[in-house]
Amino acid sequence: MPSEADIRAQLKQIAYPGSKHDIVTLGLVGDIGLKDGTVVVHLRTTNAQEQVLQHLRARIVATLSAAAGVDQVHVHIPGQQEQPHAQHGAQARPQMKEPTVVPGVQRIIAVASGKGGVGKSTVAVNLSLALGALGKTVGLLDADVYGPSVPLMMGTQARPRPAHNKKIYPVEQYGISLISMGFFVDDTSPVIWRGPIVMGIVRQFLRDVIWGELEYLVVDLPPGTGDIALTLAQEVPLNGGVVVTTPQDVALLDVRRGIAMFRQVQVPILGVIENMSRYICPECHHQEEIFGRGGAKKTGLPVLGEVPLVEDIRLGGDRGKPLILAEPEHPVSQEFRAIAQRVMEADDLNVQRQGQPVH
Ligand SMILES: Nc1ncnc2c1ncn2[C@@H]1O[C@H](COP(=O)(O)OP(=O)(O)OP(=O)(O)O)[C@@H](O)[C@H]1O
Ligand SMILES: [Mg+2]
Repeated sequence: MPSEADIRAQLKQIAYPGSKHDIVTLGLVGDIGLKDGTVVVHLRTTNAQEQVLQHLRARIVATLSAAAGVDQVHVHIPGQQEQPHAQHGAQARPQMKEPTVVPGVQRIIAVASGKGGVGKSTVAVNLSLALGALGKTVGLLDADVYGPSVPLMMGTQARPRPAHNKKIYPVEQYGISLISMGFFVDDTSPVIWRGPIVMGIVRQFLRDVIWGELEYLVVDLPPGTGDIALTLAQEVPLNGGVVVTTPQDVALLDVRRGIAMFRQVQVPILGVIENMSRYICPECHHQEEIFGRGGAKKTGLPVLGEVPLVEDIRLGGDRGKPLILAEPEHPVSQEFRAIAQRVMEADDLNVQRQGQPVH
């Protein structure tokens, strides 16, 4: 367990946004409590904006969680504990966020599809990064234990670092906390886990990973609506589901299965994303609706966005630098940020309705 002086030295590495001074030098750090692997940092009263406070909270948690002997980090901000956003009027976000069983994680959003290969992982990765770009602290849990693609798409093969009590730290990449079976197995080993083992692994990902303080944890569910996906949707305390589809009718049949799956486990569906909605020629920007378009509307659910078929998306995934990072101003990157915004709004609406599922 580090000493208080160690903690202060760590906190001195955190600069105040827009300032060249760190938060300790600026006198922002008040008392520090240390007990049994738990660190409590009290920030002094400040009139900083909500966004800045959230940023600092995330940075403090990330920095201190990485210290040896630290299992949990709490950041106390005066006036924030009970009514964190109350003073900020129009900027305020709904206050009824219920705690989930995953410590520190506010909202868990799952991305599912009725069948494989429709771009679920691509959406999960870009959605996570888009939420991050909108200032949120985000984690990404790759629950696709058989075909984990998050490590490749996020460009990291790092191994999660072990922590105390058999816990592990997620891998940090591009500002997102990641966990994936791909970090534990190499590409050549055949992955033949059976259902209960898969559940055990995902449960461990939720329970034994030190996520820190996350506003959103995005879960890339396994493809399809078979037992494994269904059990996961049931076991993971999901706050909302996003269904990815392609516009073809056959895919729509599949998407109905995805919707039915969420309904069965009473997870509110936030909406549908139509992927590979149309093809945009990289040379002449001509648009072609190869698979048709607009199918997602037929589901009767909110359409969160339409993502065209563009080679840069695939290249971004293959190269480990998703398009939204490689080309933030690309129209598709803008669309992903718009999707993230709509996901947050749909989720906030559910929170306001006190968790009433919107089906
Ligand atoms: N809109 C798009 N434009 C171009 N390529 C795309 C698009 N969406 C996905 N892809 C590519 O299609 C392939 C499949 O996508 P992805 O792996 O995200 O699908 P998935 O639904 O997660 O598949 P699986 O069922 O195997 O998990 C990837 O190579 C990805 O880069
Ligand atoms: Mg996938």
